[in-house]
Amino acid sequence: MSAPRKMFIKTFGCQMNVYDSERMTQALAARGFAETEVMEDADLIVLNTCHIREKAAEKVYSDLGRIRKLKQQRAAEGKDTVVTVAGCVAQAEGAEIARRAPVVDIVVGPQSYHRLGELLARSTVGARSIVETGFPEVDKFASLPQRATGKSPAAFLTVQEGCDKFCTFCVVPYTRGAEFSRPVADIEAEARQLARDGVRELTLLGQNVNAYHGAGRDGSSWSLARLIDQLADIEGIERLRYTTSHPRDLTDDLIEVHRRQPKLMPYLHLPVQSGADRILAAMNRRHTIGDYLSLVDRLRWARPDLALSTDIIVGFPGETEADFQASLDIVERVGFAQAYTFKYSARPGTPAATMPGQVAEDVKIDRLHRLQAALNQAQTLFNSHCVGRTLPVLFDRKGRKPGQLIGRSPYLQAVHAEADFSLFGRLLAVEIRSAGPNSLAGVIVQDGGTAQRSDASGDGCARLGLEDSEPAFFRRPAN
Ligand code: 5AD
Ligand code: SF4
Repeated sequence: MSAPRKMFIKTFGCQMNVYDSERMTQALAARGFAETEVMEDADLIVLNTCHIREKAAEKVYSDLGRIRKLKQQRAAEGKDTVVTVAGCVAQAEGAEIARRAPVVDIVVGPQSYHRLGELLARSTVGARSIVETGFPEVDKFASLPQRATGKSPAAFLTVQEGCDKFCTFCVVPYTRGAEFSRPVADIEAEARQLARDGVRELTLLGQNVNAYHGAGRDGSSWSLARLIDQLADIEGIERLRYTTSHPRDLTDDLIEVHRRQPKLMPYLHLPVQSGADRILAAMNRRHTIGDYLSLVDRLRWARPDLALSTDIIVGFPGETEADFQASLDIVERVGFAQAYTFKYSARPGTPAATMPGQVAEDVKIDRLHRLQAALNQAQTLFNSHCVGRTLPVLFDRKGRKPGQLIGRSPYLQAVHAEADFSLFGRLLAVEIRSAGPNSLAGVIVQDGGTAQRSDASGDGCARLGLEDSEPAFFRRPAN
């Protein structure tokens, strides 16, 4: 019997690509491919790409340069290598990729990767590359093999794809297409399978996940709030999260789930993008800073220990120093526990790319550094206020040193602890002893049991808001 062919998959970009790569790996495994972490050994190389910013897209071409040499070397040894570009660069650039990088054999968009096996069978090394970037009518999820066992107790589950918001800077509505929600029954079946395989924490994914409106069993449209309640009833699922949300779709019922559903973790990624109304309007965000702050207030009424994270872009066309100051102000006012910051990157075909007032690179860099300094301070403060508290931690990774495990707190902080590997996958209570800007360290004190409401128990960072320094991230809205 011949040795199985080997595949190497490199994932760029967001969690939705991580999920897609996992599904691709499983689909290809069903066709006899074994995974390898060594690119040089691979008979099939897949780059699952991201197009959101220029840098991410360009990285793909520099990798393809390296792969060209590798393919030549392997050919000299009599070995074929099939090179596939998948994901959003594939969708956005299509046949242009193969023109620019003839080493590529297959170009497959994010809506078509369930057909990769079939495309592989059709592809002949040295022949013209195959480009598959349609938005097929058939549900790709239904065509993929059933989700197999993951190794981690925490898993992603894509529930929604695409976006209809058309923020003027963003390529997603073009690369991922219109909003689509998977039916409730399919999601539930996948979640049950994951739970049976030992998954304890599910993160529901979607480009605009809170716009979820999938068909329920009775054919009626379900909201994300209703889906969360349904999944929370699955035995074994202890924690739920969802990302990424748009402020416009943060409905009352979703806020209400944060109040009463103990399995929904007190952490929400809610991109604000800018602190200036003028810029938000130019971005076509369709919300103001007032709207955003009022949502934050309502969320914190519902769940006082809610930790918020966000995305902020600096140097959007027309952004003045005063507009940028407004972004610094919003950081101060909300007290984000985490944030992702980006220099505006003009993306071909998006309205903002041709707007007047493009900001110079050195100004963008300067603003990015100032914003990051403010956010690092907020994050360090948030972490330091967890010291002395006891938090339920789900251990999902090995630590760097033997005898160490790393897990996640309810607020998505990485928590390091001395722990035997037998505790991998367990949800345990950890007393936090120290904090750094990016992680916490602590000691396991007891079995964490099922999802604890850390505010109700008095554990966790929840009560911080009631203490003297009253950090902004737990500040209760005044009324
Ligand atoms: N330039 C910079 N940042 C961008 N993002 C999306 N498009 C761009 C762009 N053209 C950021 C947004 C989004 C995150 C995933 O990436 O902040 O929320
Ligand atoms: Fe892009 Fe998010 Fe705006 Fe949709 S809501 S266009 S995904 S930034």
